[in-house]
Amino acid sequence: MAAPLYSIPGTSAPSPGADAPVPDMASARTVNEVLAQSQVEAVIDELDRDLVGLAPVKQRIRDIAALLVIDKLRLNLGLQAQTPSLHMSFTGNPGTGKTTVALRMAEILHRLGYVRKGHLVAVTRDDLVGQYIGHTAPKTREVLKKAMGGVLFIDEAYYLYRPENERDYGQEAIEILLQVMENQRDDLVVILAGYKDRMDTFFQSNPGLSSRIAHHLDFPDYSHDELLLIGDRMLAGMNYRLGAGAREAFAEYLSLRLAQPHFANARSVRNALDRARLRQASRLFADRDRELTREDLTTIAPHDIRASRLFAAHNN
Ligand SMILES: Nc1ncnc2c1ncn2[C@@H]1O[C@H](COP(=O)(O)OP(=O)(O)OP(=O)(O)O)[C@@H](O)[C@H]1O
Ligand SMILES: [Mg+2]
Repeated sequence: MAAPLYSIPGTSAPSPGADAPVPDMASARTVNEVLAQSQVEAVIDELDRDLVGLAPVKQRIRDIAALLVIDKLRLNLGLQAQTPSLHMSFTGNPGTGKTTVALRMAEILHRLGYVRKGHLVAVTRDDLVGQYIGHTAPKTREVLKKAMGGVLFIDEAYYLYRPENERDYGQEAIEILLQVMENQRDDLVVILAGYKDRMDTFFQSNPGLSSRIAHHLDFPDYSHDELLLIGDRMLAGMNYRLGAGAREAFAEYLSLRLAQPHFANARSVRNALDRARLRQASRLFADRDRELTREDLTTIAPHDIRASRLFAAHNN
C-alpha cells in the first residue's frame, strides 16, 4: 500500500500531529470552549480558505463539526448516547478534491477526539481483496489494523462488489468491513469514495453498507473559473506565476481540455501545469549563458502553455 501523496495547497494549520494526545474537553460547557480547546476551527477555516469552490462540501463539513461539538457537550453533562455514526461516502468525478478533503476530515475528527490518531489510510480493492481462497480476510484485517484510530479511505469502493462473479472474494472483504464499521465505530471512520452513479448502484446492491453510512457528501465538478483559480493557487504554492498573456493562454487551454475525454478537474490542472513547468525549464535551459533572474525562474510564459498538443490539434 503506497503512502498517499496528496498535499493541500497553502500552509498547514499547526497540528498536534498524529498520536498527539487530544486535549480533554470534559470541562467544556459552551460551544466556544470546545472550539478553543480542540482547535478544530483552525482546520475548518484553513479548508475554507485553501480549497477553491466546493461550497456544498464545506457546508456539510461545518454541519458535521457542529454535530460533534454538541455531542461533546452532551457527553460532558452525562447524557448517554451511542457514538454518532461517522462513516461517510464522498462521491464525485476524478480530481474534485475527495482525497484532499478526507485528509482534513481525519484531522477534524482527531481534534474533536473521535479518532485517536487522525491518520488517513487510502486503499483500493487490490489492497483489501486477495487472489486466492483464504487471502482476503488477512489482507483486509491488516489494512484495518493500520487504519485503526484514523480514517480508512476506500477509493472506487464499488470495485469491492462484482455481481457478475458469484465467488468473488470482494464480498468477504465487505463482510469484514461491515463488522468493524459497526463494532469499532468509536475508533475507525470509513470513507467510501468514487463516481456518484456507480456508488449509488453499489449501495443499492449492498444495503448493509449503505445503512451504515451516515453522511453522503457529493463533490461537484469545478467551473472553468474555479479551475483557473485552482491553477493560480497551485502555481503560487510552488513559487511560480503566469506571466503576461499566460493566464489568457491557460484559460483557453482549460476550455479546450474541458471538452476532451478523461477530464479530471483539479488533477488535470495540476498535470497541465507540470507540463508547462517542464517547457519553461527547457526554454530557460536552452539559453546557457544568460543570467537567470528570479523573474525568469518563476514566470510561466504564454508559449509554455500554447506549445501543448491541444492547441496544435485545435488549429489543424
Ligand atoms: N478545491 C480545490 N482547490 C485547490 N486545489 C484543489 C482543490 N481540489 C483539488 N485540488 C488539488 O487537486 C489535486 C487532486 O485532488 P484530490 O486528489 O483531492 O482529488 P480526488 O477527488 O481525490 O481525485 P481522484 O479521483 O483523482 O483521486 C490535488 O493536488 C489537490 O490539492
Ligand atoms: Mg483521490
